[in-house]
Amino acid sequence: MTDSGTAPMEMDHSNGDAVTLSSQLPWVEKYRPNRLEDLVAQDDIVNSITNLIDNDNLPHLLLYGPPGTGKTSTIVAAAKRMYGPSKYSSMTLELNASDARGIDVVRNEIKEFAGTKQLFSKGVKLIILDEADAMTSDAQFALRRVIEKYAKNARFCLICNYVSKIIPALQSRCTRFRFAPLSPDQIQGRLQYVAKQENVNLTENGVQAILALSGGDMRRVLNLLQSTAMSNSSDGNGENIVVDENAVYLTSGAPLPSDMSNILLWLMNESFRDASQKITELCASKGYALADVLEHLTAKLATLELDAAPLARLLDGMSQVECRLASSASSEEKIQTASLVGVFVETRQLIEMT
Ligand SMILES: Nc1ncnc2c1ncn2[C@@H]1O[C@H](COP(=O)(O)OP(=O)(O)O)[C@@H](O)[C@H]1O
Ligand SMILES: [Mg+2]
Repeated sequence: MTDSGTAPMEMDHSNGDAVTLSSQLPWVEKYRPNRLEDLVAQDDIVNSITNLIDNDNLPHLLLYGPPGTGKTSTIVAAAKRMYGPSKYSSMTLELNASDARGIDVVRNEIKEFAGTKQLFSKGVKLIILDEADAMTSDAQFALRRVIEKYAKNARFCLICNYVSKIIPALQSRCTRFRFAPLSPDQIQGRLQYVAKQENVNLTENGVQAILALSGGDMRRVLNLLQSTAMSNSSDGNGENIVVDENAVYLTSGAPLPSDMSNILLWLMNESFRDASQKITELCASKGYALADVLEHLTAKLATLELDAAPLARLLDGMSQVECRLASSASSEEKIQTASLVGVFVETRQLIEMT
């Protein structure tokens, strides 16, 4: 373990090392925080884990929360702090728990790794099990015994999206940390930093567009920035590119806010025939999927001042259309568009009657 307070000597990727390689790296990897203190957000978690490491007192961990919030980055940075850059790879085992090869292979790998003594280094090893919530409960029970068996030589870190899918017997053996979606403020700083490093001209409305589409997921933020920059640059290296609202929405395939406003306007005011036709034409010309339109329509509806009853009716109708779209039974977009318009026209009549 490193002395308390001193971070291991680590090169920060974002400071321009490995220039030749880094231009091909996806930005999510290139800008993965290397040290615990580089993580934006999750301050409490980072502080707790740093203390536990520095006191040489790391328990088994369970990190959970939505994707792109820094779970993997946190434990990898923690491991680098614990072991230092040279010993890090020999002391850490990263496994994907959802691996199709099953618990037996996982168990053998753990056995081989945790069972072998390191000749010149002391301290416990770290075993990271990503996507632990994809394990069956039988596999989780088996894992519980594995954890007990190797508790002397190794610490386990389970990572998952849904903590409710982890059996209580495993949960109770771990210290749990919940990762929250990143707030717009936290995303914005990192986003602008990366854009600057990559010479991307990110406009203010481009920032807002990426934030609106991100859902607090930093991985999605960086991927969206990179794909927008790449797809709008002639030589494909993403430099000196303007990333604005239009480019972001175009790349992501999500409907532009102005188009969504029009769709809502038509749904609330036009006749059944006109609204159906206009929406079908717009979706065809811009290449929007009705499923995406529905998703953004839900958020748009919240901006209207509707009474509870008609609002509930609209949402119920929309969810039925969405369900039919998702099932292969009737995914014909034209019919479902008409069905969506029908929901609105019916609800409008209801409002007028009362
Ligand atoms: N808290 C954070 N601070 C800075 N970057 C982050 C943070 N969370 C995620 N990222 C970025 O998103 C990418 C994915 O993060 P990761 O830790 O793999 O997320 P998770 O494991 O929670 O799905 C990282 O490479 C990093 O670039
Ligand atoms: Mg992860």
